[in-house]
Amino acid sequence: MTIFLTGGAGYIGSHVLLCCLEAGHKVVVLDDFSNSSPEAITRVEELTGERVTIWRGDIRDGTLLRQIFDRHHIDAVLHFAGLKAVGESVADPLAYYDVNLGGSVTLVRAMAAAGVFRLVFSSTAAVYGDQVLMPLTETSALAPSSPYGRSKRMVEQVLADLCAADSRWSVAVLRYFNPAGAHSSGRIGEDPRGVPANLIPYAMQVAVGRYPELVIFGDDYPTPDGTGIRDYIHVMDLVQGHLVAMKYLADRTGYHVWNLGTGRGHSVLEVIRGIERVINRPLPWRIAPRRPGDTAQCWADPARAAADLGWRTSRGLDEMLADHWRWQAQNPEGYLS
Ligand code: NAD
Ligand code: WQD
Repeated sequence: MTIFLTGGAGYIGSHVLLCCLEAGHKVVVLDDFSNSSPEAITRVEELTGERVTIWRGDIRDGTLLRQIFDRHHIDAVLHFAGLKAVGESVADPLAYYDVNLGGSVTLVRAMAAAGVFRLVFSSTAAVYGDQVLMPLTETSALAPSSPYGRSKRMVEQVLADLCAADSRWSVAVLRYFNPAGAHSSGRIGEDPRGVPANLIPYAMQVAVGRYPELVIFGDDYPTPDGTGIRDYIHVMDLVQGHLVAMKYLADRTGYHVWNLGTGRGHSVLEVIRGIERVINRPLPWRIAPRRPGDTAQCWADPARAAADLGWRTSRGLDEMLADHWRWQAQNPEGYLS
């Protein structure tokens, strides 16, 4: 198959790129490198011995998208390109609606014009917002609490409406929980621009000495140790979820939604203890007040993906942290190292 991968130089996209190439697919990547480096793709090419066709450009550029669909015979689209920082989305909501919603609408227009109707979309557990009942199933209420989460929820709605209007569409919406880890080679991984917003990348950068200490946002949550609980999923398990979803869509149409999570949560303190085991020394941390907008706990019920796709995670927190650490230790400054 020829797969069109938007945002293919990013954290998750680069890991999916690697596995698509290993599975024997041809891949065309579109990325504007606003939050990534072409070096990620170079490294994937080195790891696989395969070449990738790269288009540098913006997902909102309909003319460029038409050119890409004219030039390549695309069978399926995996859509990762977008903005993903919750705090930034509160400060600059228009950017999030423009890139995430506008970009997705531009993409599906170009797909329809080219007669390509198979799409896997990167959604997020952020569409659920602050919920009390755990675990979250695909039918849990949707109440996103940030412009980021709302922009993803809106794209989901657009795709559902599209599938209802035109039976040729075949769409998988994958709601990721908290991706972490890296490919076991240590050659590709998460390389956030600026100060990392997420727990594991920040803690790993403390471990390599880029920051003096980890700040724990709150130890007074109604959880066993008082710190927030999340469902951390190894990026390679996440990648497998995309490959099986794509296979599922091969002979089915319609709109499908799956949670991609492990089904179990870990607290911030458990993650810190895990990192300390991997780096074999204490990680400096201190407690600070809660981060505005954070929820006490969030984890997935991944039963639907298991039933429909036969997909289950196989990697636990320790492997995730060991793989993330290998990447971070070998590339302390990310792709610029
Ligand atoms: P990332 O920022 O590493 O990757 C996104 C890629 O899209 C980057 O390479 C970036 O340069 C590119 N991009 C951004 N704006 C673009 C534009 N206008 N035109 C073309 N390319 C553009 O993020 P990621 O963690 O790999 O996330 C991939 C997708 O998964 C995103 O849509 C994100 O919302 C979603 N997601 C991520 C997480 C997470 O925690 N990492 C969780 C849930 C969902
Ligand atoms: C995890 C836990 C924090 C940083 C976000 C998005 C979500 C998804 C994944 C894209 C929480 C605590 C964190 C730190 C800390 N992304 N923490 N110190 O907030 O669950 O989810 O990323 O779709 O949409 O909202 O992830 O890694 O930021 O936080 O104590 O420096 O770690 O309070 O309990 P979150 P996170």
